[in-house]
Amino acid sequence: MLFLQLPLLLALLPAADSEDGFQEPVSFQIIHIFSFYNHSWEHSVGSGWLGELQTHGMNSSSDTVIYLWPWSRGNFSNEELMEVARLFQTFFIRFAQAFHNHAIQWMLQYPFEVQIAGGCKLRFGEASVGFVQVAFQGSEFLSFQNNSWLPSPEGGETAQLVCRLFNLYQGTQEIIHRLLSDTCPRFLLGLLDAGKAYLQRQVRPEAWLSPGPSPGPGRLVLVCHASGFYPKPIWVTWMRGEREQQGTQRSDVVPHADGTWYLRVSLEVETREAPGLSCRVRHSSLGDQDIVLYWGHRSSVGWIFLAVTVPLLLLAGLAFWARKRRTLCQPASSHLPLE
Ligand SMILES: *[C@@H]1O[C@H](CO)[C@@H](O)[C@H](O)[C@H]1NC(C)=O
Ligand SMILES: *[C@@H]1O[C@H](CO)[C@@H](O)[C@H](O)[C@H]1NC(C)=O
Ligand SMILES: *[C@@H]1O[C@H](CO)[C@@H](O)[C@H](O)[C@H]1NC(C)=O
Ligand SMILES: *[C@@H]1O[C@H](CO)[C@@H](O)[C@H](O)[C@H]1NC(C)=O
Repeated sequence: MLFLQLPLLLALLPAADSEDGFQEPVSFQIIHIFSFYNHSWEHSVGSGWLGELQTHGMNSSSDTVIYLWPWSRGNFSNEELMEVARLFQTFFIRFAQAFHNHAIQWMLQYPFEVQIAGGCKLRFGEASVGFVQVAFQGSEFLSFQNNSWLPSPEGGETAQLVCRLFNLYQGTQEIIHRLLSDTCPRFLLGLLDAGKAYLQRQVRPEAWLSPGPSPGPGRLVLVCHASGFYPKPIWVTWMRGEREQQGTQRSDVVPHADGTWYLRVSLEVETREAPGLSCRVRHSSLGDQDIVLYWGHRSSVGWIFLAVTVPLLLLAGLAFWARKRRTLCQPASSHLPLE
């Protein structure tokens, strides 16, 4: 029993919930991606993210924020939201301008892409941690630490030149610091509160088994699917009785468009070992009622097949019988008036 519980405990621990029922740490960040096409033209896309959920978009043509959820404003007033949006707008315009103006000095070749991710991370009962990271062509370039810009080693000489310029603007650094250390955690907490009903919903997984691609003669890949669950932490494994099977392969937990998650856990075995193996799914929405599916001669698929085909056959038989009876009866009834 201990063998069973130890991995369970380990699997569930990282997802330990705060007293408010949120998985920690929680974070809010803004991601802004610039594509610089030429000396006078760039395009940018912005978005806001609560953990892995997108909460804000940006209308590039009007440069305005799109609130994707009814609760995306958190508890901020419209004035404060507009003030923050204006700060970002100014910052991003100047940021892009700096790259255009210094393209030659910084040895930049068009086209290139610059990504900025900035926000704050929060563990309940601890101070919030702010961060800004800048990537150039997909690799680390700069970060904002201790109130100043720091070049990443990967950024080379260009990153050092960029930091030297950015660090001249004391006022901007103070604004960034305030956004990260005050505005962001306040907004994040307000967002968590406003979106509570949605963020703390529990959606049960659906689970089913299927054979995977054949690994070779005499062997089988058993695949256990768990789909449509929320929140993300889930424990799925192949077992024989109470024994967890070694060698289970877990896919990434991938999102569905509706914000729920999907996971596949497979196990390669010799065909004769497959009967008696079961897939066990444990998720917060299920309470302590794990889903257990057995792989066997009569797999769940087989039962579904029977459950569907038997009534269909009965129905077909009935229809056939009724038709036959009608054709037999018809002449009789058409004779009736004559009698
Ligand atoms: C810059 O790129 C845009 C879009 O591709 C194009 O319309 C524009 O003419 C270019 N400008 C210059 C100066 O090359
Ligand atoms: C973006 O802004 C433009 C101009 O204000 C507007 O016409 C358009 O409908 C907006 N698009 C979205 C998706 O909000
Ligand atoms: C930031 O400042 C703190 C205290 O002033 C220091 O302990 C820490 O090492 C600094 N971090 C970086 C990355 O410079
Ligand atoms: C929003 O909620 C947070 C957390 O409860 C709080 O600290 C803040 O004062 C509230 N209001 C505003 C305008 O930030």
